[in-house]
Amino acid sequence: MTFPSIRGDLQIRLDAIPVELAGEIIADGGIKSLEVNRYLGRTPSSYVLQDELDWLEKVRTQSDICAWGIYVRESTSEEEWKLIGTYSLNQLDGALYKTAVSGCILFNKDYWNKGIASSCHRMRTMYAVDYGAYVCVRSMVLAPNSNSDKAIRSVGYVPVSTVRNHSMVEGQLVHATNYEQINPAKWAWECWWGDDKVPKEFLAARSKTQAAIDWARNNIAF
Ligand SMILES: CC(C)(COP(=O)(O)OP(=O)(O)OC[C@H]1O[C@@H](n2cnc3c(N)ncnc32)[C@H](O)[C@@H]1OP(=O)(O)O)[C@@H](O)C(=O)NCCC(=O)NCCS
Repeated sequence: MTFPSIRGDLQIRLDAIPVELAGEIIADGGIKSLEVNRYLGRTPSSYVLQDELDWLEKVRTQSDICAWGIYVRESTSEEEWKLIGTYSLNQLDGALYKTAVSGCILFNKDYWNKGIASSCHRMRTMYAVDYGAYVCVRSMVLAPNSNSDKAIRSVGYVPVSTVRNHSMVEGQLVHATNYEQINPAKWAWECWWGDDKVPKEFLAARSKTQAAIDWARNNIAF
């Protein structure tokens, strides 16, 4: 999937990661760097090329993960695409209705704060609805990760619960917030809420999610 960034200055592509690009994920610190890992709630680890090859093999063979590389280039250029991050839908579950857990990592910090995560969230929201029929996509964000919080709220994720003292970050215990994004289509909305009164936060979020889907439908090229 190829699309412009919401700020219009970059082209973004979500596509498979070939094994020959696995080294990019750990190049110049990449996913090993403290800043990138800080709010991922992971056990500290030193990633090597084999870890990335193992991860690529896992996403290639496991049916409950759908993962893309995030590639970018300037909007006016025909230069090579640069791999700068990963986007995944994890824990894909279709037992009762389809749910998933989203995750976005820009392992190249030079590309932070350019609207890339916000753009990818819009495209992934549309993809999960139009091509996956997902009813609910979940995400977890550690409290200090305000950039991630802003980016997912902009596409209609709503906080639903807090996990106290989820992780230790730089000597401080931090809480994690669980979020849910509900497919705004009538069939999915009614499937999810049934006869319950819909909380007002979700009513506002429904419009944001629909706006994200509309933006993506108008901007995507396969
Ligand atoms: C969190 C992350 C995905 C955000 O990606 P991004 O492409 O930089 O985010 P965006 O540019 O779309 O910005 C999202 C919001 O954060 C703000 N923001 C991002 N970087 C910022 C910075 N350095 N300073 C101030 N604000 C910043 C943006 O202005 C935007 O807010 P707005 O909508 O009010 O303008 C990226 O920083 C990252 O990969 N971090 C490491 C891994 C991680 O924490 N992943 C998320 C796990 S839940």
